[in-house]
Amino acid sequence: MNYQDYFKTRLDALREDGNYRVFADLQRKRGAYPKARHTAKDGTGEVTIWCSNDYLGMGQHPAVLAAMHNAIDTVGAGAGGTRNISGTTHDHVLLEGELADLHEKEAALLFTSGYVSNWAALGTLASQIPGCIVFSDALNHASMIEGIRHSKAARVIWKHNDLEDLEAKLAAADPDAPKLIAFESVYSMDGDIAPIKEICDLADKYNAMTYLDEVHAVGLYGPRGAGVAEREGLMDRLTVIEGTLGKAFGVMGGYIAASAELCDFVRSFASGFIFTTALPPAVAAGARASVQHLKQSNVERDRQKERVARVRAGLDAMGIPHIDNPSHIIPVMVGDPVKCKFISDTLMRDYGVYIQPINYPTVPKGTERLRITPSPVHSDADIEHLLGALEELWSQCEVARVPLAAQ
Ligand SMILES: Cc1ncc(COP(=O)(O)O)c(C=O)c1O
Repeated sequence: MNYQDYFKTRLDALREDGNYRVFADLQRKRGAYPKARHTAKDGTGEVTIWCSNDYLGMGQHPAVLAAMHNAIDTVGAGAGGTRNISGTTHDHVLLEGELADLHEKEAALLFTSGYVSNWAALGTLASQIPGCIVFSDALNHASMIEGIRHSKAARVIWKHNDLEDLEAKLAAADPDAPKLIAFESVYSMDGDIAPIKEICDLADKYNAMTYLDEVHAVGLYGPRGAGVAEREGLMDRLTVIEGTLGKAFGVMGGYIAASAELCDFVRSFASGFIFTTALPPAVAAGARASVQHLKQSNVERDRQKERVARVRAGLDAMGIPHIDNPSHIIPVMVGDPVKCKFISDTLMRDYGVYIQPINYPTVPKGTERLRITPSPVHSDADIEHLLGALEELWSQCEVARVPLAAQ
């Protein structure tokens, strides 16, 4: 086989299908987020980022930066080992305590990313509990799907957020088999929210464990930023709450929060936890500062809600279609991959607005979109500029609008 030819052929096929991913090479400027410099050859210089998962701008927060600087100056750069062999530092231990407290669980366990936490925790629970059946929401994230697949456990996919389908599938399973229901709170592409209470009721009825991914909710929802389950008073009903430190908390890393026994079980059996270098202590220290800040500050959350409402109102006034969901994610629907990419490229080139196009296979064909995530650090002028640019491009590209009366 000619390996290079093979790679090229496969990449060419991606390009032909419009699925080839091009990364925007950005350089943020400390303190100036959401502004960044776009360093592409034909780059226009400064851009405003409108599609970041640093939802609250915590990646620039002075308390987070100070904690990271302080940790580097105090203990140095890397952890120097796996958690088992010399890589557990006091910063990791403190962060796990902080996260357990956040979710009002006995314990928490850190991983190098949210992806790894899902892959390792779900993979371990499903493979190490004999006969376990995993009931997985149809729109679960790739990291959950891969973890479940890797476990080789029996897997039952239930229709997205569909309680009737979930119940029918639970009822059809062996009543004595161990069961695990895996789902998310806020789904990242449509921004819809799961009926957590009703899923927990079904879990109780059929004696199933629950595993809730709150990756797009931690930091953002609930009085202390513990997520949608906190907002709805349901944290104690979930067996496992999983989260990331890389989105609203603005740093990096992932975790699960659960009972002491469950965390110890995953700690002891998950290869994705055991056989990898621990997060740098400075990352753990920065994440802890972020979690601590958002436990006691609603300023960022309140301002974000207001910014989201303002962008939505502006889109409505222009008849630009967007999914009407109860979250902070605004999926603006284009419905055509070529137009979606064109609008995104033009926004970047001519307007200094960066919104990555979301095309198939991330979303179904025909639902191509611009996923906009307003944050507390977007100014009124940023919003006006974004809306003006979209208005012009919607006309230029003849993208469908929603009749104003129908909104
Ligand atoms: C639902 C969900 N879970 C997990 C992850 C992975 O988290 P991380 O980016 O920390 O690896 C993502 C990433 O986008 C996600 O959308």
